Order: sequence, then structure tokens, then C-alpha cells
Amino acid sequence: MEIFDLVVIGGGPGGYLAAERAGHAGLKTVVIEKREFGGVCLNEGCVPSKTFLNSAKVLDYANHAEVYGVKVDGEKTIDQKAVVERKKGVVKMLVSGVKAQLKRNKVKTVSAEAFIEGKNDDGFIIKAGEEKYVGKRLIIATGSMPVVPPIQGLKENVESGYVMTNREILDLEVIPKTLTIIGGGVIGLEMASYFSSVGTKVTVVEMLTKIAGPTEAEISGILQKSLEKKGVEFKLGAKVVAVEKDGVVYEKDGKTEKVVAEKVLLSIGRRAVTQGYGLENINVNLERGAIVTDEQMRTNVANVYAVGDVNGKIMLAHTAYREAEVAVNTILGKKDAMRYNVIPSVIYTNPEVGSVGETEESAKAKGLDVKCVNIPLTYSGRYIAENSDLNGICKIVVNNKTNTLIGAHIIGSYSGEYIVAVSAMIDLEVDIENIKKLVFPHPTVCEIVREAIFQI
Ligand code: NAI
Repeated sequence: MEIFDLVVIGGGPGGYLAAERAGHAGLKTVVIEKREFGGVCLNEGCVPSKTFLNSAKVLDYANHAEVYGVKVDGEKTIDQKAVVERKKGVVKMLVSGVKAQLKRNKVKTVSAEAFIEGKNDDGFIIKAGEEKYVGKRLIIATGSMPVVPPIQGLKENVESGYVMTNREILDLEVIPKTLTIIGGGVIGLEMASYFSSVGTKVTVVEMLTKIAGPTEAEISGILQKSLEKKGVEFKLGAKVVAVEKDGVVYEKDGKTEKVVAEKVLLSIGRRAVTQGYGLENINVNLERGAIVTDEQMRTNVANVYAVGDVNGKIMLAHTAYREAEVAVNTILGKKDAMRYNVIPSVIYTNPEVGSVGETEESAKAKGLDVKCVNIPLTYSGRYIAENSDLNGICKIVVNNKTNTLIGAHIIGSYSGEYIVAVSAMIDLEVDIENIKKLVFPHPTVCEIVREAIFQI
């Protein structure tokens, strides 16, 4: 049995980045993946959904081309087979990039299902295929899978293919005439944005009274209106109680109703993958179905770390990246720790949403003395020049005591790209007076942050 400094189980963003960083630092590393390197994010999540959404954006532009003085003749339709083909090409390119990066950093890659058999004096014994590997340390990065709750008829209809998850919907080569989406969270909304753009009649059934879960309330409302304008119908405060062969049954205001659809997407959250690979053989602690970790990504078992969705903290690829780095730095004896309060989040709908930190509501609930500014994106010249729907806003939250930014919530073009600038200002606790001295390129949409700061 070959002994490694580090064995990583799972080749998604958490796993491959941990392996890459460890290899780069000179640790003898092996990463084991049972499906495709790149994980859910690269193969059936973040990246492929962005190829879909970009095709929809191009179509949206074509449909409104006249607004911009462009004449596009003939019918503008989506070629879904071509969209799926393009997606496959993008995924292939990125997955081969991940493999090349691992190779460059001298990481051994194994394509097999890993199983933790136990521990001996040399380390943790991991079986993968016919081989066994010993790791002095272990990083678990097995990710998450869609939640399939015990709703009547759901399991059978997932098995028959009538109900899809994020995996199947991104392989759909025929656009359905009607689509019902169970869950108005991030996956549901991104897919609602895509399918409504390409001509599907979309209905979203959401249990809560607002869409986009923790998103700032006014922004969630603007997003809802934008999607409604594209024809999406929302059933809010509606709990799905059964799935039948031709539709979804839900309860709303004490009444039971049904929405008939050609296809259904299930997107009501994801759960950590902790079963079936021998975690119990080394007694790793779980809480509410996820691996318990501290801020150095350590589990209760010495030399065992857990990064990414499997620890159930914030299920986002960029959180996994950072957790991977913290775990590897901890292994290397470098001081590092996770900070979860400045992780930005982006919803890649059209219009897109970028948020980070506190909302006015959450800050006040914490008893913080805050000042808030809410301005329209029409303060930005580039925003007006490039958009026909001018409903974007930018909200910032400032802590009066520290005179620093603690939150920003933006809906409108590019917000997902420049929200990181605000994250940096929050994370580095930059004084508002110093932010005022920063030069923003003009004309850009990100100038909206500077504009908001000057309105405090
Ligand atoms: P989610 O947690 O974002 O949203 C699930 C929604 O389903 C919630 O609003 C919930 O109230 C609702 N729901 C639950 N049970 C229901 C029922 N019986 N009837 C009606 N509604 C019900 O989960 P989602 O969209 O599946 O995403 C999964 C994970 O993937 C999330 O952790 C998310 O952060 C991540 N993701 C992130 C993306 C991004 O950052 N842009 C894109 C896609 C996914």
C-alpha cells in the first residue's frame, strides 16, 4: 500500500483545489473521484447552467435588438441540441483543465469509488477499485446531492424521468412547452430564467412567501417581477404535497390545487453526502446529516478534514475553494481560518443578483447601528446605455460605529462580477472615507457602489 501525505476523497471544487494546493506545496497527494473530476459544479451545476443562461441572454438580446438599433430578421429561436452540445464542449474543456492542473502539481488522480476501511499506524486506509492507499491525512470532499423528500409520488416520478434534478435538466435536448419548478431558490430561479426566455411556460411553486430564500426582500421582489414579465408564474406560500404523472399538487391558503406540466424540476435544496463510503469506520461526527468542522476545517478525528458541501455550512463552490485552502494551510502548519460572514452570493438570472454581508433587516436584528442607502442603477451611464429594462437597484449597509460597509445587495447587469469588490471592502474593514478616495473606471456599472457611498 502506497503511503501519501494526503488522500482527498472527491474531485469537485473542494477536493480538486485542496489536492492542487497540497501538491503545489510539496505534499505527496492523491485525489480519488468516482464520477467526473470537477464535480457537480463543473459537470452538472454552476458552469453548465451558465452556458444555458448565456444562450438565453443572447436570445433575449436578439428579441430586443431593435431597442438597440439592430435589425435582426427572421425567427429567433433556440436550438436546444446546439445549446447542449456547446455546454458539453465547455465542460470538457474545463474538466481537462482541472486534470492538467492536478498533473502540473504532481497530484495522483484515481477514477474509482473510494471507501474508508479504517486506520493503521501509517494513516487512514482507503480502498479505491483494486488498489489501497494510505493517507497520513484525509480530506473529505464528497459534496452534496439533491434532497428528495418523502412527498407522495415524488420518488417514482424522479425514477421515471418525469421529475428532473439539476443533473437531468442540463441534458434536456427538447424544450418542454410547460415546466413546473418545485422550489423558488437559486437553482429553480436560474432555470426559470432560462426556460422562460426560450419559450417554456414556467410555474414556480415555492413554500415561502418570497423567492430566492435569504436574498434581500426588495431585491427578491424586483427579481420576481422581472421573471413574471418574462411569463413565469409564481405560486408562493405553496407547499408541494404530491407529484402525479402529469403535474404537481400543492397546498396554498388551506386549499389543494394542481399545476399540470410536461416536465417538473425538483430544486428544494441539497444534502451532504456522508453515507456509503465508510465514514463510520473512523467515527467522524455528523450533525443534521453533515460533517461537523471547526474553522480550520478539522473534524473530531485528528488529521481528518471536511471541505465543501459535505460540511453543510454554505453550499457554494467558492466557499469550498476557500475551505480547501484553509484545510491545506492548516495541514502545512500555516495559520488560517474560515470567515463565513463575507462570502458573496450570485444568482445568475437575467437580471443577475450579487449580494454580500448584512441586509438592513439582518443588521437591525443583530442590534447594529446602521445607515442604509438604496439607489437605482440608472445612476450608472453604462447601465442605461446597455439595458432596456431599467429596474436595477443597489442597496448598501454601513455600520455607523465603525464607519465601514457591512453589506451590499445589487440587482442588475454585472453585479455578480463586481460584488467581490464590495466583499473586499467589507472583509478588509476599509473606512468609508478611504473608499471615497478609490478611483472606479468610468463608465462602468460598478460605479454604483461609489455613488451609493457618497450618498451616506
Ligand atoms: P435552495 O435552498 O436555494 O432553495 C430551495 C427552495 O425550495 C427554498 O426556497 C424552499 O423554501 C423551497 N421548498 C422546500 N420544500 C418545498 C416544498 N415541499 N414545496 C415548495 N417549495 C419548497 O435550493 P436549490 O435551489 O435546490 O439549490 C441547492 C444548492 O445549490 C443551494 O445550496 C445553492 O446555494 C446551490 N446553488 C447555487 C447557485 C449559485 O450560487 N448561483 C446556483 C445553483 C445552486
